[in-house]
Amino acid sequence: MDGRGALMRPVPSLDKLGGAAGSPRADANPNPGPVSRLPTVEVTVYPYECDAYGHLNEAAYLTVFERARWEALARGPGADLFRRHGVWPAVRSASVEFLRPAFPGDVLAVDLRLESLGRTSLAMAQSAVRRSDGAVLAEARFTFVMVDPAGGSVAVPDEVAGAFGVRASTRPGEMVRYDVGGLSLAVDLRGDGPALLLVHGFPVDRTLWAHQVATLAGWRRIAPDLRGMGMSDAPDGAYAIATYADDLVRLLDRLQAKQAVVVGLSMGGYVAFDLVRRYRDRVAGLVLVDTRAEPDGAEGRAGRDAMIALARAEGSRAVAERMLPRVLGRTTQQTQPVLVEQVREMMARAPVAGVIGALGALRDRPDSTPLLPTIAIPTLVVVGQEDELTPPSAARALADAIPSAALTVIPSAGHFSPLEAPTAVSRVLAEFLEHARGYIR
Ligand code: MLT
Repeated sequence: MDGRGALMRPVPSLDKLGGAAGSPRADANPNPGPVSRLPTVEVTVYPYECDAYGHLNEAAYLTVFERARWEALARGPGADLFRRHGVWPAVRSASVEFLRPAFPGDVLAVDLRLESLGRTSLAMAQSAVRRSDGAVLAEARFTFVMVDPAGGSVAVPDEVAGAFGVRASTRPGEMVRYDVGGLSLAVDLRGDGPALLLVHGFPVDRTLWAHQVATLAGWRRIAPDLRGMGMSDAPDGAYAIATYADDLVRLLDRLQAKQAVVVGLSMGGYVAFDLVRRYRDRVAGLVLVDTRAEPDGAEGRAGRDAMIALARAEGSRAVAERMLPRVLGRTTQQTQPVLVEQVREMMARAPVAGVIGALGALRDRPDSTPLLPTIAIPTLVVVGQEDELTPPSAARALADAIPSAALTVIPSAGHFSPLEAPTAVSRVLAEFLEHARGYIR
């Protein structure tokens, strides 16, 4: 412990500081851009940071600004914000405007403003204002590029963008609507590269893949709401797994993607099997997450009928309440209350026509086990260690039946592993995708 924390504390935003109006700062930066959500912090100037003239020089200001950034992170989303997402903010450019000297013992209020957000980069500005007289002593500008451990640039994770004041939902390149044969699908689209189609399960929506969409750089991430779910159209009437697959092929056509690596979770896995069965040349690789190949037995089908009756009588929220304890792992239920509520609400807002349609499609889905020995494309089976619905033993059997498949078990996650352990799942996917890339035509 270096005692530094004791010399830093959050202060009100600079706009609220007494000296702001008419102060040099107001003149120095008339158009400051959105103030970040990170707190302004106070840093004290140490004697050892000062040069032969006894004050902070430009290089020393850079160090002080860096100190303030880490302190602001520690007091906000956590100093491990980047590490949590497997990225690092590499400084690509830095400039300091030296306005006035600072001396040992001066207390500087340092804020942090986001100037612009790119796909892989953040441009920020910081100001150092002397607490005692409100004078702006220095201004700095930095550009950071997110890099992965190999040094390659990657997309700015949504949580990182959010921490600096940008709401994920306002970011460009997010939800787009596509007409697929008279039906409108809501689709999250992000990035360039080979197509990666992410197919969610029941009864959730495309936001299941939020972390993967945000982080799997180098791929064109395509995460649709299946018909009847999320913000896609929800027609009345019968649905089938094949209908979902047909919608997705139309979507790939619209996006001019000849092939995609298909990632399917649970019901999304059933759809992925159907894509392999009927559109084999469109599938370049396969990730089967928390899913199985067998159809429902008699008991399972009766359970679907009971659930359809429940949805008709009491709506999607009743279905959500019935399913919630089984879709999330015990660790998630004990340690991630915010996520539990998020999943509850996601399931509860599913359109009732879509829920009923999906339950019929699940009940009547075909047996995909005969397909398994014929799968020769790169395939990864992923399962949450605490998945009760499609447990690790079932995932092992699935991986064993596919000649080209490997298996990965995600610790402390249940049936919705991409949401419950997003970083772990994204990392496993990133590794698999590097391998699969070589097989894409
Ligand atoms: C899902 O997550 O998609 C469902 O658990 C699928 C199913 O009930 O078979």
